[in-house]
Amino acid sequence: MRTALVTGAARGIGAATVLRLAREGYAVLAVDVAADDPALPYAMGSHAELTAVAAQPGVEAFVADVRDFDALAAAVAEAERRWGGLDVAVAAAGVIAGGVPLWEVPPEQERAVLEIDLYGVVNLARAAVPALLRRPEPRSGRFLAVASAAATRGLPMLAAYCAAKAGVAGLIRALGAELGDSGVTANAVSPGSTGTPILAESARLYDLPEAAAFAGQQPVRRLLDPAEVAAVLAFLAGPDSGAMTGAVVPVDGGLAL
Ligand SMILES: NC(=O)c1ccc[n+]([C@@H]2O[C@H](COP(=O)([O-])OP(=O)(O)OC[C@H]3O[C@@H](n4cnc5c(N)ncnc54)[C@H](O)[C@@H]3O)[C@@H](O)[C@H]2O)c1
Repeated sequence: MRTALVTGAARGIGAATVLRLAREGYAVLAVDVAADDPALPYAMGSHAELTAVAAQPGVEAFVADVRDFDALAAAVAEAERRWGGLDVAVAAAGVIAGGVPLWEVPPEQERAVLEIDLYGVVNLARAAVPALLRRPEPRSGRFLAVASAAATRGLPMLAAYCAAKAGVAGLIRALGAELGDSGVTANAVSPGSTGTPILAESARLYDLPEAAAFAGQQPVRRLLDPAEVAAVLAFLAGPDSGAMTGAVVPVDGGLAL
C-alpha cells in the first residue's frame, strides 16, 4: 500500500487530492491548519471540513500549520508510525492576499503569504523528503507542490503571491536536481483559475462580482474543477511518473499561453 501526506487538505485542491489518492488505494494523512488566520480577511478550511475529508476510508486527519516545521515533522512521524513509511508528500496548503500594490500591502498579510505559500513548502520538504528516502530501494517517492500560473506571470496586486509561487517553482527544480537517482522525484503543478475559496478571495481582491469572472481569461473559457488538478497530482504521485523530476506542469486550461 502506498501512503501519502497532503497539506491544505480540508477543502479545495488539497481535499480533492486526498479523496483521489484514497480512491486509488493510498492511505492518506490529511493535514490542515483548520482554523482562521488572524492576518487574513477570509476563512480558512474548518475543522468540520477536515473531519469530513477524513471520514473517507483510508484517510486520517492531522491538524498542523505548515509554518511550523515541528508540527509537520510530527505529521510525517504519524504517517510513518501508522503505515510504516511515506511514499508521497503533497504541499497544497496556500493563501492569498493583496489587492493593492506591493508597497501598500499590510506587512502581516505579506508575511502570511510568503511564510505559508513558500516557507510552508520548504518546511514540508525538510520534514518529508528524509522520510521518502527512508523507504528501501528501489523506491518511487514523490515530493509534489502546488505552485500557480502566478509562478510565471506578473499579476498586479498579487506581488507576494507571485513571489512565493515563483519561489516554489525554483525550489522544485533544485530539489529534483538534488534528488537525482534516489528514486524520489520532485514535481509541481501550476493550476489556473480553479473553483475554490481562494479564487473567491482573489475575485474580491480584484473587485470582481464573483470568481466566475476569471473563466474568460483561460482559453478553455471555464473555471477548472479541483478534481481536474487532483487528477494530475495523482498521476505525478504514482510510479508511472518516474521519468519526470523538477517539472512544473501547467494545469491551467491554457492560462499561461
Ligand atoms: N484555486 C485556484 O484558482 C488556484 C490557482 C493556482 C494555485 N492554487 C493553489 O492551490 C493550492 C490549494 O488552494 P485551493 O484553491 O484549494 O484554496 P483553498 O483556500 O480552498 O484551500 C487552501 C487550504 O489550505 C489550508 N491552509 C491555509 N493556511 C494553512 C497553513 N498555514 N497550514 C496548513 N494549512 C493551511 C486552508 O485551511 C485550506 O483548507 C494553494 O497553494 C493555492 O495557492 C489555487
